[in-house]
Amino acid sequence: MSVIENSKLTVVGAGSVGSSTAYAALIRGSARHVALYDIATERAEAEVLDLAHGTQFTGTSDIIGGSDLSVVEGSHVVVITAGAKQNPGQTRIELAGTNANIMKSMMPQLLEVAPNAIYVIVTNPCDVLTVLAQEATGLPPERIFASGTVLDTSRLRWLLGQRAGVSTSSVHAYIVGEHGDTEFPLWSRATIGTVPILDWQAEGHPRMSVDELDEIAVDVRDAAYKVIQGKGATNYAIGLSSARIVEAILGDEHAVMPVSPVLDDFHGVSGVALSVPSIVSASGAVPIRETTFDAHELELFHRSADALREVADALR
Ligand code: LAC
Repeated sequence: MSVIENSKLTVVGAGSVGSSTAYAALIRGSARHVALYDIATERAEAEVLDLAHGTQFTGTSDIIGGSDLSVVEGSHVVVITAGAKQNPGQTRIELAGTNANIMKSMMPQLLEVAPNAIYVIVTNPCDVLTVLAQEATGLPPERIFASGTVLDTSRLRWLLGQRAGVSTSSVHAYIVGEHGDTEFPLWSRATIGTVPILDWQAEGHPRMSVDELDEIAVDVRDAAYKVIQGKGATNYAIGLSSARIVEAILGDEHAVMPVSPVLDDFHGVSGVALSVPSIVSASGAVPIRETTFDAHELELFHRSADALREVADALR
């Protein structure tokens, strides 16, 4: 894709997720200018140098960064990845206390230097932190949202594509709800091309059963645990997902993505950030109210909302 003129992305946090987001953004040309900010000066400067050393081989994007807040100035999009990460076996929710404090102290400072930016929260638990950050900043809900289940949706599409013998981009299916243990797929609307998921069959790819789809949903839900068990973190796929969200914003694409803004009476849910298919553009993310759930999906959606509301309430 072509680089959007004069666009600036700042990634906050130079850990493995933040650095991978900056790397993906440079390679994809997601923004003309990329900045990487972290309070850990040496780490931030080293990551920036390493990334800058490769820019002969990327597009026209450039990279700066460090621990001085001035690097964030003029950002159109700020992606927040700073904070503690999951250890093997730990849930995202277990990070809530530590990362809520980081978020509360950091957000006002960022907003001061980048008052007009769209904020994308990647730090976990991203849905809960989005509610706290939205409240702390008073930003309109469309301007601050979590990356949510964009990544989980990509994991789902990859698994289904493999199973069905089609490319990932031909799978139309969404994971919604929490980016975490209560997430679930909207199977009632899932298709391959135009064919409902349960009807799909192809040479060497027999029909899928409801039980098999349930197993795939569990694999998606637990995917990060598996990666963290093996390598200590997830970084590439979340980096790519974040860069893709940035492009939809900077390009004013009006792309449909399952991001997570604070909801206002979405199927009866308010005051909680949960991923639902939303329109992502230069003004941020707006949930698509026409998205329909069947009765079971609605129940799961409310269960996800109740679980997250409880965590956010405990942190206020
Ligand atoms: C994951 C982390 C980013 O799902 O939550 O990979």
